[in-house]
Amino acid sequence: EKGAYPFYMIKEIDEQPAVLRRLVQEYQNDQHEFEIDTDLTDDLLNSDRVYVIAAGTSYNAGWASKAIMEKVAKIPTEVHLASEFAYDIPLLSEKPFFIFLTQSGETADSRQALVKVNELGHPSLTITNVKGSTLSREASHTLLLHAGPEIAVASTKAYTAQITVMAILADALRALKSEEASFDMAKEIGLAASAMESILSERDDIKTWVDSNLMETRNAFYIGRTADYYVAMEAALKLKEISYIQTEAFASGELKHGTIALIEEGTPVIALISGELTSAHTRGNIEEVKARGANTMVISTHALSREDDQFIVSNLNELLAPLVMVVVTQMIAYYTALGRGLDVDKPRNLAKSVTVE
Ligand code: M6R
Repeated sequence: EKGAYPFYMIKEIDEQPAVLRRLVQEYQNDQHEFEIDTDLTDDLLNSDRVYVIAAGTSYNAGWASKAIMEKVAKIPTEVHLASEFAYDIPLLSEKPFFIFLTQSGETADSRQALVKVNELGHPSLTITNVKGSTLSREASHTLLLHAGPEIAVASTKAYTAQITVMAILADALRALKSEEASFDMAKEIGLAASAMESILSERDDIKTWVDSNLMETRNAFYIGRTADYYVAMEAALKLKEISYIQTEAFASGELKHGTIALIEEGTPVIALISGELTSAHTRGNIEEVKARGANTMVISTHALSREDDQFIVSNLNELLAPLVMVVVTQMIAYYTALGRGLDVDKPRNLAKSVTVE
């Protein structure tokens, strides 16, 4: 099934542009507008706050989607860890709506939270890759990721599909609220797919950087601000789970509040810069870690120069930049595990679907 690919993970990374395009087709009507089941949109439009609940990569996709839901659909959105939520339910708004992000639809932590939500009688939506899965059956509504089976334990295409479905949903809600669009969502998703293709074609350069910077190290850092910080969280999880390098994600501004103490000669620090507003500050943080000996790599959308920034992602709407920025970090994780001779698809101690709490 993986054909010429040595591992499912790299096949699934490569499938992402096609998944994005498929999602636009699946959710558009004949007039090329996004159309979502009205029972679902009615429930959402009646609510005053969205609570996204998820685990692992799906939780990170929740953070990357929060700004899209708030800025496009104008609905306040919170993101919670499933494993915490069921045991420490926050003070809820008057009309909460719950969104469960789950590739498998079988994650026990997420299911436990959904059981609580159902006991409280609140409406919910499961966004999942698996039709008929437990969380899909038990939530009030379901939207599918249409990503095709994800076999590698390390989730890749489910993350980008989740953000895309959240973007489609947010845009459909915006239209129903008769809010003027500040950009064409379908077009931007198409541009993101093309930007993914162009960065995927730079895989050899990514591998070269990885081979000279991540083969021996025991730790690594990802830094970024706002959406880039959320992508950093996912990037760090990916590198940890398949390469076993202790990797942490930090909001760049927090470095000086403690973490910078960990930087020593040769520590790899990968900076993500897609936000124009935060670019100058993060670049300042890169200088600070460089001065302490860090080996830095910059992935950006607004490159100052080719010397400063190793990987340049085509400039697209900032809200959708995580879709493309993350692809570089997926390849970093992949080539690190590959270079270290590890079983990329089946990392130690992990199962594809975590069905215990
Ligand atoms: O199936 P789910 O999306 O609910 O799974 C949640 C996590 O277990 C999953 O994302 C996990 O973190 C992956 N191994 C990450 O690559």
